[in-house]
Amino acid sequence: MTTECSEASIRLGSILGDVNSSITNEARLFSPGNVPKVVLAPMAGVTNAPFRRLCRRYGGGLYVSEMISARAVVEGNLKTMKLTQFAEDESPRSLQLAAVDPKIVGEAIRKLIDVEGIDHFDLNLGCPVRKVTRNGGGSALPYKRKLLRSVLASAVEAAGEIPVTIKFRVGIDEDHSTYLDTGAIAADVGIAAVALHGRTAAQFYSGTADWSTIAKLRDAVPAEIPVYGNGDIWEAADALAMVEQTGCDGVVIGRGCLGRPWLFAHLEAAFAGEELPEFPRTSEVVLLMAEHAMELVAWFGDYKGVREFRKHTAWYLKGYPLGGELRRRLGMIESLDELDDLLADVPDVALPEENRRVARGHTKGPQVVALPEHWLDDPYDDLIANPEGDSAASGG
Ligand SMILES: Cc1cc2nc3c(=O)[nH]c(=O)nc-3n(C[C@H](O)[C@H](O)[C@H](O)COP(=O)(O)O)c2cc1C
Repeated sequence: MTTECSEASIRLGSILGDVNSSITNEARLFSPGNVPKVVLAPMAGVTNAPFRRLCRRYGGGLYVSEMISARAVVEGNLKTMKLTQFAEDESPRSLQLAAVDPKIVGEAIRKLIDVEGIDHFDLNLGCPVRKVTRNGGGSALPYKRKLLRSVLASAVEAAGEIPVTIKFRVGIDEDHSTYLDTGAIAADVGIAAVALHGRTAAQFYSGTADWSTIAKLRDAVPAEIPVYGNGDIWEAADALAMVEQTGCDGVVIGRGCLGRPWLFAHLEAAFAGEELPEFPRTSEVVLLMAEHAMELVAWFGDYKGVREFRKHTAWYLKGYPLGGELRRRLGMIESLDELDDLLADVPDVALPEENRRVARGHTKGPQVVALPEHWLDDPYDDLIANPEGDSAASGG
């Protein structure tokens, strides 16, 4: 099936059935009794509907969309609106927005509630990439306390009953830590839960996440607001260790899930105190790969779907003893048929124990954080560096 991202299909989808918000009479998300323990981290270019659905199949949790530019939503950018869509069976629907302007974030939220029936909004205050921070977005925004407060308050007001959460880093760099102020401001304006990645923007993805910051945030934020920990959970035991060491209420997992949607079954078992399922052999992994690729093609169309899947091939097979040539060819597939032929040649092998924690996804850093001019001069002014700045931020 080919799904073209046409304006007509987006409108039609909206009219026909995308408005069925799954909010029920259950306790509100993030209120006592409904605090998901495990959250799939928003990941640009990864956590679209096909990947979220694949992960959800393995366990209960919250599966968040990739970062979406609030301004692009307001402007009705077609590619962005495609990224805001959820499959019919996805519930609850969690969407992450990136915004620098209080007015725009409110407008985007009101529009998305009307059109997509979103159940939970997360705000991106942690993105460290140049094109976002140099415009005052992502991990640059928490430095401006007053502007941050306005953005969060506007989002909470626009969302009404729908919970708004935030995800952020420790700060810009070692000398400009912002996470404790961010937690305090969030609590003040009615943010429903907070998630901290224990790295600064300057660290990017280098070194190891400092989980002690998560513990400090848990101590600082009022007990009724769930605190989530994020950074370097590669296997289920890491998630238990993070909860144990920091007292956090739940965990957010990013790179550990790349090519490993089955990790959610491990996490569910670990938190339930049950024995972990076996790590899959390649014979299982190739079936997952084929399914994921087909779902991407159904969602994005042949051309984009196949190209989107290329990067996943390396993640799925990472750590398995297979030749480099096969990986190389998988990374260049042009069609589902070609994928099918290549997967037929994958030998059935187990994942060696020593490779279970092999890093995947970004590992780069440190970096010099790109910031708007004079950004660090005054933490309390509320000038928006570049109101147009987040237009290009959808999907990272
Ligand atoms: C490919 C990729 C894309 C990402 N995109 C986003 C994003 O859109 N929004 C966001 O808040 N964080 C994004 N992140 C950061 C992750 O959500 C997470 O905070 C980070 O990877 C650290 O967690 P981990 O050690 O479990 O991977 C991205 C990370 C990766 C690897």
